[in-house]
Amino acid sequence: MNLISMGIAGLMVLSLSAQDKAKIEFGRYLVEEVGKCQECHTPKLESGELDRTKWLEGAVLDFAPMKPVPGWHTTSPGLTPDGRLWDRWKEEGIRNFLITGLNPKGGKADAPMPTYKMKASDVDAILAYLKSLKK
Ligand code: HEC
Repeated sequence: MNLISMGIAGLMVLSLSAQDKAKIEFGRYLVEEVGKCQECHTPKLESGELDRTKWLEGAVLDFAPMKPVPGWHTTSPGLTPDGRLWDRWKEEGIRNFLITGLNPKGGKADAPMPTYKMKASDVDAILAYLKSLKK
């Protein structure tokens, strides 16, 4: 390999990591600003603020429906790769769930989890962001 091709290879590595960063940042935006996943998947402090140290690690919900809703869940699972969900469903299961709204058994999630049917490229950004949260 001559110096020029080494330089080009080096630049490619650099631009790849810039691309990865942009993808993670887009995923963060979709999770935090569009899907608002943290509102249900992050525990709150006594002050009512979201607990930044347990970001998206699953929570006990602090709200309930005014009328009974069948299957209502009072807890949400952790969404980071350290949680059980990634073990149980693997990345592919979570990916399919966010694209189709269906879990690996073919059913929908219980309320109040919304049924998202996202574009695959958006889901890939979300997964890149969630992976970046691995402790
Ligand atoms: C309004 C509250 C709420 C919001 C907003 C929310 N979730 Fe959930 N989510 C839940 C609850 C409650 C469950 C548990 C439902 C269940 O086990 O069937 C859940 C379950 C899940 C599951 C596992 C599904 C299952 O059947 O076990 C995934 C994956 C998930 N959420 C991802 C997300 C993502 C990604 C976002 C944001 C784009 C999000 N959630 C936003 C409440 C919410």
